[in-house]
Amino acid sequence: MTLYLDYAASTPVSTVVLDEMNLWQKEHFANPSADHIEGSYSTRAIQNAREIIAKKIGAMPSEIVFTSGASEANNMALKGIAFKYLNEKCHIITSLIEHKCILNTCDFLEKIGFEITYISPNEHGEISPDKVKKSIRENTKLISIHHVNNELGVIQRISEIGAIAFEYGILFHTDAAQSFCKLNIDVDDMDIDLLSLSGHKIYGPKGIGALYIRDARNSEIVPLIHGGGQELGLRGGTSPTPLIVGLGSAVEHFPEEVSEQQNLFEQVIKDYNFVRNGSSSTLPTIWNITFNSDDEIKRFILEKNWLISQGSACNAMSNTPSHVLNAIGLSDELARRTFRISLPPFKCY
Ligand SMILES: Cc1ncc(COP(=O)(O)O)c(C=O)c1O
Repeated sequence: MTLYLDYAASTPVSTVVLDEMNLWQKEHFANPSADHIEGSYSTRAIQNAREIIAKKIGAMPSEIVFTSGASEANNMALKGIAFKYLNEKCHIITSLIEHKCILNTCDFLEKIGFEITYISPNEHGEISPDKVKKSIRENTKLISIHHVNNELGVIQRISEIGAIAFEYGILFHTDAAQSFCKLNIDVDDMDIDLLSLSGHKIYGPKGIGALYIRDARNSEIVPLIHGGGQELGLRGGTSPTPLIVGLGSAVEHFPEEVSEQQNLFEQVIKDYNFVRNGSSSTLPTIWNITFNSDDEIKRFILEKNWLISQGSACNAMSNTPSHVLNAIGLSDELARRTFRISLPPFKCY
């Protein structure tokens, strides 16, 4: 029997979320921008979800802009800020171990003249706040460092990085796709100006996420999708009420309890010889392990019919060794023997 242990790549939609979404698919399907009673029902449902999400990160509802997911939110944050400086071009700081949607966006921005510094992690996958500070230049306008690494599960010291950004008057963006709902986040306490999140990592639907934008009404972020004025004019397109309701519901019903699979997994994995990659501050649901030998991998695969991944789902598509593993110093050979096992998410602390 196969066992799905790839929850960092995607989670199922929980039943309670699906039930709430269904109402807005078939019964109340009106366009939320419509000027009639059904339209106003949809608007209210969207506002309710916005309030739930905002509360979760200590933000105002008006600071949540819905997107198609964390990839779009990350693009919006980076390009949206960079495009404000199209003429003079600016400097952006990020890391070598961001998700590909950040790295490929930075690569694009670099090609059109922006300056990017990629901070390298240490062998445990940690980004040093001090290195971030030392990379700041006069024209640095944005620092973008993820909260939890999607391959290693390592939790970055984003409060310290946020404080540095605040001290220098630089905007701080964090990709929280892997940490949202699982770790406590307060955008004020952590000096976060922009934060990306995604629905399908937290038992919500695929195709929905959001970007938190501090004081969004007055932000100078340049929209990537121009449309009919939806989402404060920052992201055009008819708001997908069922998906937004689903995201709100997923946040509201996110499990606090450790799942049974967590304990079971820890018992089972003890029988194999491996090294766990990452730092002492790693999400308990993400295990990045390098098996000691090919024989050990064979034994593991023969005995366990688990659906797990080598690197992230995105690396799997390109069939290249993981850029994260290379960045923490693993050879291609060690990277080949490395797997990510990700357990059902729950709230950590
Ligand atoms: C850290 C991180 N950022 C961004 C994404 C992209 O999220 P989405 O699938 O919502 O675009 C993912 C998901 O794979 C992720 O793990």
